[in-house]
Amino acid sequence: MGDVVRAPWGGHFVTGFDACSQVLRGRNWLAPDFAWQGRRADIGRWDAPATREMTKALSRLNAPEHTCQRRSLGNPFDRSTIQELTPHVEQDVARLLDELAEVLRSGEADFVSIVSEQLPINTIGSWLGLPPDDYARILDITHRQVHAQELIPTRSELDVSAEATVQLRTYFTGLIEQRRANPGDDVLSGWIRTWDALEPDRATADETLYRLTMFVTIASLETTATLLSVMVWLLVSDPGRWAWLGEHPEHIEAAIDEVLRYDPPIHINSRVAADDTILAGIPIAKDSMVHVMYGAANHDPRRNEDPDAFDILRTGDHLTFGGGVHYCLGAALARLEARTLLIQLLNRFPTLRIVAPPVYASRMVFRRVTWLGVTT
Ligand code: HEM
Repeated sequence: MGDVVRAPWGGHFVTGFDACSQVLRGRNWLAPDFAWQGRRADIGRWDAPATREMTKALSRLNAPEHTCQRRSLGNPFDRSTIQELTPHVEQDVARLLDELAEVLRSGEADFVSIVSEQLPINTIGSWLGLPPDDYARILDITHRQVHAQELIPTRSELDVSAEATVQLRTYFTGLIEQRRANPGDDVLSGWIRTWDALEPDRATADETLYRLTMFVTIASLETTATLLSVMVWLLVSDPGRWAWLGEHPEHIEAAIDEVLRYDPPIHINSRVAADDTILAGIPIAKDSMVHVMYGAANHDPRRNEDPDAFDILRTGDHLTFGGGVHYCLGAALARLEARTLLIQLLNRFPTLRIVAPPVYASRMVFRRVTWLGVTT
């Protein structure tokens, strides 16, 4: 239908790879922040408590606030941090695969609940020093909160999100308070020291710390879990492909990238035009919203030949982690989890098989696999 297609509710879908890339990287495209929402005639659309709370998150900020907050985090998953985290992730994967093996003794297992959902929360939880007893609760709240980030949430979904948003605030403000009382040399204590130096007002510092910690946590969970489940689905559903990858582990990184390209965990992201502009030949008025379609961009045949073929050996490209100033902060961590899991799965379960296609939650923006039956 074209690179830039009108959306029924106004605004446009952006489907082509280059056009999406241009929007993500261009300085004349902004995140739809409070200032933009305030100029809208349909301001009520953005008024739900959960939507307002998410508008304060890092991904919805623009310069200079975004620049300041993003700089305060530095590059949290640089090469040396990833090296330090590797043995922990390896141990955790081994333990989760022991559990999987135990369940598989009686026939079938749900890969999602035993492995995909657990690895991301264990990883981010131990990195931020969250109590393991809280992991199940954080996962539950995250799954309910995400509705507010969907394209057109219903009123009842927004109500569910509003309740979850309050719970997230209570949990993470409590966490910051406790860490202030017992600082250490952990990541979160480091963020507290950084913000105390940057921000003279303690209440403002704590509010920013709450938003950053909450958002980094929730941004890391469903996204990575979906990658892990889809990775197993796409690689294991073809036994020949699974066997081939076991014999060619040098292609594990490429296989992960092909999974990320083929079915990205986040399908849509929105930006607004800072000025009247032209995108792929289509005039876009200042303040109009565009929806960047990551999945469509990754399947643009001008960028990835024969895009609907799943091909580990393609040397293609994808926009699954976004681009420009908002580029995913946790891409290296997600890759570490996927790589570690894949290496151990191939070694321990060379005869892994899929029982039935995955079950997906009914969502448009944030993909979520709720069940994936496997057997050996
Ligand atoms: C497969 C897993 C993941 C996928 C597909 C993913 C995807 C994305 C995408 C598409 C964006 C928006 C980029 C843009 O606007 O251009 C983003 C932003 C972000 N991601 Fe991820 N993500 C994943 C895992 C993670 C993890 C593990 C973390 C944290 C540990 C994380 C933290 C963030 C944060 C904090 C942002 C906001 C960055 C900003 O606005 O400056 N993500 N991610």
